[in-house]
Amino acid sequence: MVARRDFEPKIIGFLCNWCCYAGADLAGVSRYQYPPNIRVIRVPCSGRVDPAFILRSFSNGVDGVFMGGCHLGDCHYITQGNYYALSVMHLTKKLLEQVGVNPKRLRLEWVSASEGNRFAQVMIDLTGQIKELGPLGVGEGIDANRLKLKLEAVTRLVPYIKILERKRLRVRFETTEEYDRYFAGDEFKKLFRDLIADKLRTEEIMLLLREKPMSVEEVSEALAISPSEASSYLNHSARQGIVRFDEAQKRFVLADVKEQVLS
Ligand code: FES
Repeated sequence: MVARRDFEPKIIGFLCNWCCYAGADLAGVSRYQYPPNIRVIRVPCSGRVDPAFILRSFSNGVDGVFMGGCHLGDCHYITQGNYYALSVMHLTKKLLEQVGVNPKRLRLEWVSASEGNRFAQVMIDLTGQIKELGPLGVGEGIDANRLKLKLEAVTRLVPYIKILERKRLRVRFETTEEYDRYFAGDEFKKLFRDLIADKLRTEEIMLLLREKPMSVEEVSEALAISPSEASSYLNHSARQGIVRFDEAQKRFVLADVKEQVLS
């Protein structure tokens, strides 16, 4: 893909106070040059970065999100939050991929307080990479309204995903390579498919039906999925009492909560 010369990406950076933020400060004091595209939010630790922060940033139109923390083993908290940040980064990348956003738009790097030059280099590299990807949604070839709906659906799922992360998905390894392997492996892929992917699709359908009643074909078109897939999700949601088929309109609608309570 060719970088767009006139495109200046908006990038949000969540930098841990003790290392990466100090590294960014040193880059400034040392007058290392790097593109001015990043807007920094200082957090106490990279482990404080919630998937909702990242997803909301994309919902608000940023083109890239950066997480910066202390090197592994150097986190200033006894919980060693940067290991948790690694899990959050991998899980959020998978969520982004699921909603059609290029996961390369999210990046995590370790930068110490003495690595001002490294911070500047990472910013140069990251800005170049996001330029190549193009504006959010445009680079992916995904319609703006569809992307908005998908990001809203996945953001609404975050509380559920966080409980899931604590109970079923939390892992602790010693190296980034071990995290890379685990999150690319079959065990995680299966857990993600079984526990998150279907729920996400149901959430998207609920958001669509909140706007107006829709047929199978309309849902299929709005979510860019096959009619048989749309039909399968709608029928499954109907069996769960989340949606119902309205005979008069010949379309699916959100099930009436009162009906569900009384039945
Ligand atoms: Fe920097 Fe935890 S204090 S990553």
